[in-house]
Amino acid sequence: MTSIEIPFPDDWHVHLRDGEMLEAVVGYTARRFRYAMVMPNLAPPITSVADARAYHQRILAVAPADAPDFRPVMALYCSPAIDLDDLRRGVEEGIIAAVKYYPAGATTNSDAGGTSLADFMNLYETMIDLGIRLLVHAEDTDPTVDIFAREASFLDRQLAPLCASLPELAVTVEHVSTGAGVDFVSAHPQVAASITPHHLARDRSDLLANGMKPDLYCKPVINSSADQAQLIAAATGGDPKFFLGTDSAPHPTAAKYGPVAKAGVFNAAYGLEVVADVFHQEGSLDQLAAFTSTNGAAVYGVEPSEHRLMLTAESTDQDLATHLTTAAGDEVVLFGDDEATRWQVSVS
Ligand code: NCD
Ligand code: ZN
Repeated sequence: MTSIEIPFPDDWHVHLRDGEMLEAVVGYTARRFRYAMVMPNLAPPITSVADARAYHQRILAVAPADAPDFRPVMALYCSPAIDLDDLRRGVEEGIIAAVKYYPAGATTNSDAGGTSLADFMNLYETMIDLGIRLLVHAEDTDPTVDIFAREASFLDRQLAPLCASLPELAVTVEHVSTGAGVDFVSAHPQVAASITPHHLARDRSDLLANGMKPDLYCKPVINSSADQAQLIAAATGGDPKFFLGTDSAPHPTAAKYGPVAKAGVFNAAYGLEVVADVFHQEGSLDQLAAFTSTNGAAVYGVEPSEHRLMLTAESTDQDLATHLTTAAGDEVVLFGDDEATRWQVSVS
């Protein structure tokens, strides 16, 4: 029987939300992951250390007590509202680990985002000084740019010039979704990238060909099978620049199933099984720990976990949950239940 033991994984990109949704989803992340880079796109966004600290406390207050080693760390939302002294204190206190740039209008709760990466040079200088990374949602929101070309266009028009002018700024391209993105990361020494389970395991035909699937709709949109192949090669190839960030992003089905679907895939429940399945199919399970547990840790300057997690390729005949229900009665669909039937996960 195929089985692999890995250091406890980290999730370097996750949306935990707030209130009843936070309560409903946090356990899935806390039981499966150690570090969780918590995204700041609440409404209103998290732009101060006081707000980040309060959010951190709300997360820990509802995290399950039996989580082996759950460590949420916070990213501030890149905005003119960030005070540089406040940021400095937040980093020194260990509460702030990064700053996240959202192009305005690109995705869920990005209205307060930027119109140009180049508008925050003073902030970036401070970040270089503090040794923290700029996390980038790489999508060109110019309406003349095709939806499937938005990542490539943003990297070319905005991130390339920034990297050229600030070669000391460490950057993570979040949820890299295209071959162009993989090539960009490889070509720039200061850039690394997170990759999601759903961009590894699905392509745009899965999204669109057999009835449009709102549960697979996320930003950046899942792209072509050729892009997917390049993502799989990057994730399974052992390159230390590529690591897991689930981009787990819960939305109630009421916000998914309508004339306009909200963007986001909730994969905290079964994302590890999805990733293991991709690596297994590639014959690359020996590279799984690098992707889930050691590459990202090295990029963010922490040691890999000493806790272990075991994945075994064994089918279950149990019926797995297909959705969760929040205390408010909202339903959220769990991505990856198909893959999850093929894997058993145990924590030691
Ligand atoms: C995320 C969300 O719902 O907050 N949605 C998504 O499609 N990925 C925001 C984001 O990371 O783009
Ligand atoms: Zn995200």
